[in-house]
Amino acid sequence: MEENDKIKELMDKRSQAKLGGGQKRIDSQHKKGKLTARERIDMLVDEGSFEEFDMFVTHTCTDFGLEKEHYMGDGVVTGYGTIDGRLVYIFSQDFTVFGGSLSEAYAMKICKVLDKAMKVGAPVIGINDSGGARIQEGVKSLGGYAEIFQRNILASGLVPQISAIFGPCAGGAVYSPALTDFTIMTRKNSYMFVTGPKVVKTVTGEIVTEDELGGATVHGTKSGVTHFIAEDEEEGIMLIRKLLSYLPQNNLEDPPIQPCTDPIDRLDDELNKMVPENPNKPYDVKDIILSVVDYSEFMEVQRHYAPNIVTGFARFNGISVGIVANQPNYLAGVLDINASRKAARFVRFCDAFNIPLVTFVDVPGFLPGTAQEYGGIILHGAKLLFAYGEATVPKVTIVLRKAYGGAYDVMSSKHLRGDINYAWPTAEIAVMGPKGAIEVLYQKKLAEIEDPAEKEAFIRKQEDDYKVKFANPYNAARYGYIDDIIEPRNTRFRVIRALQSLSTKKDLNPPKKHCNIPL
Ligand code: HXC
Repeated sequence: MEENDKIKELMDKRSQAKLGGGQKRIDSQHKKGKLTARERIDMLVDEGSFEEFDMFVTHTCTDFGLEKEHYMGDGVVTGYGTIDGRLVYIFSQDFTVFGGSLSEAYAMKICKVLDKAMKVGAPVIGINDSGGARIQEGVKSLGGYAEIFQRNILASGLVPQISAIFGPCAGGAVYSPALTDFTIMTRKNSYMFVTGPKVVKTVTGEIVTEDELGGATVHGTKSGVTHFIAEDEEEGIMLIRKLLSYLPQNNLEDPPIQPCTDPIDRLDDELNKMVPENPNKPYDVKDIILSVVDYSEFMEVQRHYAPNIVTGFARFNGISVGIVANQPNYLAGVLDINASRKAARFVRFCDAFNIPLVTFVDVPGFLPGTAQEYGGIILHGAKLLFAYGEATVPKVTIVLRKAYGGAYDVMSSKHLRGDINYAWPTAEIAVMGPKGAIEVLYQKKLAEIEDPAEKEAFIRKQEDDYKVKFANPYNAARYGYIDDIIEPRNTRFRVIRALQSLSTKKDLNPPKKHCNIPL
């Protein structure tokens, strides 16, 4: 063969590989409103930066006539590229080849990418669009999945792992995205479930659609499995790029600092009026977040799940931070099972990747009742407590209004190694709210008063006394539990100063094999 023929052969093979399962199946993918595996990568990475591995890999199955059907690349496109100039490893499942189903060879391609990412310390992005285990390969496919899971586990906390779900993701295949840090689902065309509607009907008799069982809305609002819902694939891919901009490449790096022209001493007079006088009146904590962070840019994580707590990324003078905030606008910002789980996982992610935590507190306590107790609020609440207590990143806390009971302790209090704890003058830091406190303290006395008007006057008087004594930040500040009481309009500046002062913070937990967080 002439040299030029050899190069032509290479080019021909490459072109063939790039066609995946063939033009007909590519057309069918497009008809469903989906991009191909390669189109998704092209949209994700900086132009021309993608380097592909294992384009010539094929499966080794000889059953069910598969020995006669080979596609180069075998249903997954893998390699590395850059996003905003920073290295990322990628795998993108190709639905045009055997429905993107996973063979042993395919699994090894993904494992190679995960191994390399761990070695060099770069994030991994997996784009999922697959019919699951390649049925013809049997247990080899199951083994392949477990090899991937094992690497997802080892990579956890070492490099950020992000999963996009742009098609089916069913059966045990769901566990790879579940092991990663963030999951993004497209509103249409994507679903995740352990077993599909047909099996559900056979086993339990329940009749549900794919969407009702495991669509993006379900996982974004009810289960909390997905962190972001994208209207389409393009939005999903842009979300991944944006998310990475807040994150370091690995656990040994600090997150990137972006140049910032938003003045650090920008005051917002509106903040002084933000907290209503009536302690039972709600307000939107996101207004406060947007007011104080750089350029009012806040990337909310799990927006529709447990909205009584807000989590997400923002910057203060260019420094990436993770924000956790009780949301008085929803269930009065109470801590329940879902809110505790949501915030705990977010806090642990930030801590694993050196992202400082800024916590805004307005919490009436834990949600009482049988539903919560039977569901294990004790264990789930303990997760958030544990997460804050073990976190060694800089922790800046601002008590806006209520910080009652155990929830005061949990929300990044001084006692859980909170570094700088501020309060607004509107803060109320106490064991419980005035009403509940008076009922407990004066139970006997109240039973003795027969005249309703007299009883009412007595309660009001005691409540007023209690408010003067406890429903303020000064009592906590007296003991040094609050470092300073700040003027709300100056919050941005004070948080930035706090973060600057903590930029060289070093804190360690005692050496151990690993902790035993109440799972
Ligand atoms: C082999 C598969 C496949 C699979 C799809 N295909 N799934 N081949 N193994 N798991 C092939 C089809 O035969 C078809 O080939 C092509 O992919 C496209 O599939 P269609 O059915 O035509 O596509 P569509 O109508 O869009 O339906 C997609 C689908 C459906 C919903 C994913 O294909 C499906 O239900 N597949 C089976 C899903 C499944 O039960 N997987 C196993 C789950 S258990 P041609 O040649 O016609 O193009 C599992 C365990 C993992 O995954 C455990 C890990 C621990």
